[in-house]
Amino acid sequence: MILIVGGAGYIGSHINKELNAEGYETLVLDNLSSGRKELLKWGKFVEGGLDDEKLLDKIFTENKIDAVFHFAALKAAGESMIEPEKYYLNNVGATLKLLEAMRRNKVNKFVFSSSAAVYGQPEYIPIDEKHPKNPINTYGMTKLMVENILADYARSYGFLSVCLRYFNAVGADIEADVGEWPGSSANLVPIALDVAIGRRDKLTIFGTDYPTEDGTCVRDYIHVSDLAVAHIKALEFLNKNNKSEVFNLGNGKGFSVMEVVKMTKEVTGIDYSVVIGERREGDPPVLIADSKKAMEVLGWTPKFNSLKTIVETAWVWHQKAVKML
Ligand code: UFG
Repeated sequence: MILIVGGAGYIGSHINKELNAEGYETLVLDNLSSGRKELLKWGKFVEGGLDDEKLLDKIFTENKIDAVFHFAALKAAGESMIEPEKYYLNNVGATLKLLEAMRRNKVNKFVFSSSAAVYGQPEYIPIDEKHPKNPINTYGMTKLMVENILADYARSYGFLSVCLRYFNAVGADIEADVGEWPGSSANLVPIALDVAIGRRDKLTIFGTDYPTEDGTCVRDYIHVSDLAVAHIKALEFLNKNNKSEVFNLGNGKGFSVMEVVKMTKEVTGIDYSVVIGERREGDPPVLIADSKKAMEVLGWTPKFNSLKTIVETAWVWHQKAVKML
């Protein structure tokens, strides 16, 4: 059985679906602080926090857990610059409790949601895994800290992990079974769709004076279901090889904020209101992945490589989810 910590959230719920489709049994642990019951569609569910030591011991004692997938983290880079302690306590402190519970209960396989935010200002593009890691926001720093903890645990305890550095996760399950809950994130695509559907007045573009072609930030948007497939491959990697690894996960193509706005208008058919605002603190100008390592070592190939299709899946889900609110 696979323990999915944060399995009622956006990315975790897609991984839960994929694991079950591949025949794995799953148990979701989620405190429902941002996760949603509506996204709990497969496997067992226990409500609680990843820092609840007693609860974790109970879960590990009562279930035969082979590996742990960890998605229970705060992810708003902008917010992490305003309230850093929240990020250190949740993303690092609570994760350490989970790792210690795993060690006490002799479970040593861990798949970790890391982030492109560990790299900071790119020194070259596309970014491979050897790129220097100098996060420019607290969020990225917390992901790097956990990666470093995992490297120490590998050395000292033979603890095995795969860290997956996602670039920008977007889109929703093609069958619209799960997706990002409306209003639950500060990310560009869900906000744009929320404006298009009329739940917000306008979209603010955070800065048009970046050193990019149209002055807005460029990101590598990767479909959440492609991320889900990579997680299964990461688990298979841990089961086959006795070593820890780190992989980038992206499409290798960059789109500016302006291009994403244009695409969301095209897909929704709604010419929603956009205003230009100040830069948001902690945003690097360009992030584009070199994911060759994941392709070669894990045999992973992203299927959704058109921004249009990616946004279409998000839009289908968003319209469905808004009716559930
Ligand atoms: N943006 C806007 N207006 C908004 C929201 C975002 O202009 O209302 C801009 C941001 O400034 C940025 C771009 O859109 O330039 C993308 O921003 P997101 O908030 O969607 O995503 P981030 O790039 O900040 O972060 C995301 C994830 C992180 C992950 C990172 C890796 O949220 O967890 O991608 O690239 F680390």
